[in-house]
Amino acid sequence: MSSPLSLSCLLILFITTPTTSFSKSTLDPNQTKALESLNIPTSTDPCSEPSFHNVTFCDSATPFRHLLSLSLSNCSSYLTLTFTALKSLSTLQALHFQNCPIAPVTFPSELIASLKSFVCINSLRKLTGVWLSHLVNLTDLTVSNVPLNASGLLVIIGRMKKLKYITVSYANLSGFLPNFIDSNVTHIDFSGNQFKGSIPTSYTRLDSLEFLSLSYNSLDDEIPTSIGDLISLKNLSLASNYISGAIPDSVSAIPGLVHMDLSSNKLNGSIPKFLSQMKNLKHLNLANNDLHGVLPFNLSFIGSLEVFRVSGNINLCYNHSILSSKLRLGIAPCNKHGMPILPPRGKDLSWDDTGDSDYDDYEEDAAKEHRHRPHKLVLGVSIALSSIGILGIFLLFCIKRCH
Ligand SMILES: *[C@@H]1O[C@H](CO)[C@@H](O)[C@H](O)[C@H]1NC(C)=O
Ligand SMILES: *[C@@H]1O[C@H](CO)[C@@H](O)[C@H](O)[C@H]1NC(C)=O
Ligand SMILES: *[C@@H]1O[C@H](CO)[C@@H](O)[C@H](O)[C@H]1NC(C)=O
Ligand SMILES: *[C@@H]1O[C@H](CO)[C@@H](O)[C@H](O)[C@H]1NC(C)=O
Ligand SMILES: *[C@@H]1O[C@H](CO)[C@@H](O)[C@H](O)[C@H]1NC(C)=O
Ligand SMILES: *[C@@H]1O[C@H](CO)[C@@H](O)[C@H](O)[C@H]1NC(C)=O
Ligand SMILES: *[C@@H]1O[C@H](CO)[C@@H](O)[C@H](O)[C@H]1NC(C)=O
Ligand SMILES: *[C@@H]1O[C@H](CO)[C@@H](O)[C@H](O)[C@H]1NC(C)=O
Ligand SMILES: *[C@@H]1O[C@H](CO)[C@@H](O)[C@H](O)[C@H]1NC(C)=O
Ligand SMILES: *[C@@H]1O[C@H](CO)[C@@H](O)[C@H](O)[C@H]1NC(C)=O
Ligand SMILES: *[C@@H]1O[C@H](CO)[C@@H](O)[C@H](O)[C@H]1NC(C)=O
Repeated sequence: MSSPLSLSCLLILFITTPTTSFSKSTLDPNQTKALESLNIPTSTDPCSEPSFHNVTFCDSATPFRHLLSLSLSNCSSYLTLTFTALKSLSTLQALHFQNCPIAPVTFPSELIASLKSFVCINSLRKLTGVWLSHLVNLTDLTVSNVPLNASGLLVIIGRMKKLKYITVSYANLSGFLPNFIDSNVTHIDFSGNQFKGSIPTSYTRLDSLEFLSLSYNSLDDEIPTSIGDLISLKNLSLASNYISGAIPDSVSAIPGLVHMDLSSNKLNGSIPKFLSQMKNLKHLNLANNDLHGVLPFNLSFIGSLEVFRVSGNINLCYNHSILSSKLRLGIAPCNKHGMPILPPRGKDLSWDDTGDSDYDDYEEDAAKEHRHRPHKLVLGVSIALSSIGILGIFLLFCIKRCH
């Protein structure tokens, strides 16, 4: 909703707009009418740039300009989308809905032919996979936070042959991931559904893929060993699934990987040492798995990361002659056999990253002495000082009394 202030701003703009602007190329009157039916203020030229809240974007045709992009957000639930309005808006290449709980209508074929980008975030009640599947000319599809009624993902994207950017997340989809995805795709986000089965090996042939998120699903099986073939990949998230087996060594062959989140799975085996040779890595989350052995990283690698998490791997430990407990890694230090030193009975079992760990209590380590000495020193000095104070008061008292 517009505040009174922005409304008055609009009004002022309207009043001060010289009438000569009509001689300039303005929006097609039919499209102006369509915008009005969608409660979009048209008192100022919707084609002026930048448009109010970036709602509209036009071409520069004459005598009338046409809309290329329309973004509806925070719509009233009374708003209705009509076929007639959409028919007038068939020049749109991008149509975005965010927080617009309106009912979807059948799109005119001209609009279907023209649309390249369709975004629906928490919008369009009762959206179905079949309805989406008609938008075959899309290069960008984003559907997020929308419970979709669809028998699977393939129904939706199977006929969209030009997709480069696909997000279908938090959409209540289940079943298996589709095997075939167009080879030019750069972005895949299927997070927050109930997909099961394995990660299709065919995905590792997507040479242009920069972003892959399959997190928050029910995928199992192992990470394909060919994952290292994703030469363009920058972000990989497989978090919160049931993926098992080892982390393939090949991931360290992905040259530009910046972000890797494999947390909350059932990954086992040891952590590949090669990960520390990945020059671009900034975010590494391996928490809550079943990884074991000695953490193969040094401080200069861990220090180069913005995010590093390994807690919640009970069989994983760090070499305390290489890494300090102050890093609060949330894992136990290793004994000389490369096994975690068990936390003492009755103590917090998690080695979590809240506060200093107290392994010094039973670890025969020189650090112990250093750690405890300052406390003893402070205590000693304060006892001595207060003793002197008491003695002084006593003496003063004595001197007064004795006179
Ligand atoms: C506006 O719509 C009317 C009726 O639908 C049509 O006859 C007219 O040509 C349209 N005008 C433009 C500029 O497209
Ligand atoms: C407005 O849209 C343009 C083009 O779509 C985009 O580059 C720009 O960042 C947007 N501006 C805002 C404030 O959202
Ligand atoms: C929509 O509403 C949200 C939250 O109320 C607000 O942050 C956002 O700026 C609004 N967007 C527009 C385009 O009005
Ligand atoms: C997709 O776009 C092309 C032009 O880019 C057009 O010829 C074709 O008819 C469109 N497909 C559909 C189903 O509208
Ligand atoms: C999610 O999908 C299940 C079936 O897979 C269905 O029973 C449930 O109603 C859906 N939830 C929503 C919010 O649509
Ligand atoms: C999903 O769509 C099918 C057929 O289109 C319909 O029979 C079913 O009731 C719908 N389910 C929900 C939860 O809307
Ligand atoms: C992928 O892109 C290349 C060039 O960008 C193009 O020649 C090729 O036809 C595209 N492939 C598909 C399947 O769209
Ligand atoms: C990719 O990872 C980087 C580094 O962690 C992060 O800043 C960025 O937001 C991620 N990109 C997306 C699209 O999530
Ligand atoms: C890892 O788990 C798989 C089954 O999920 C098992 O076959 C394999 O032996 C395990 N490897 C290690 C090193 O524990
Ligand atoms: C830390 O590990 C990296 C990668 O394994 C290595 O290149 C580097 O020399 C090591 N640094 C130190 C101080 O040991
Ligand atoms: C810990 O590191 C030291 C020094 O690099 C090495 O001698 C020792 O074997 C390592 N301990 C384990 C358990 O890997």
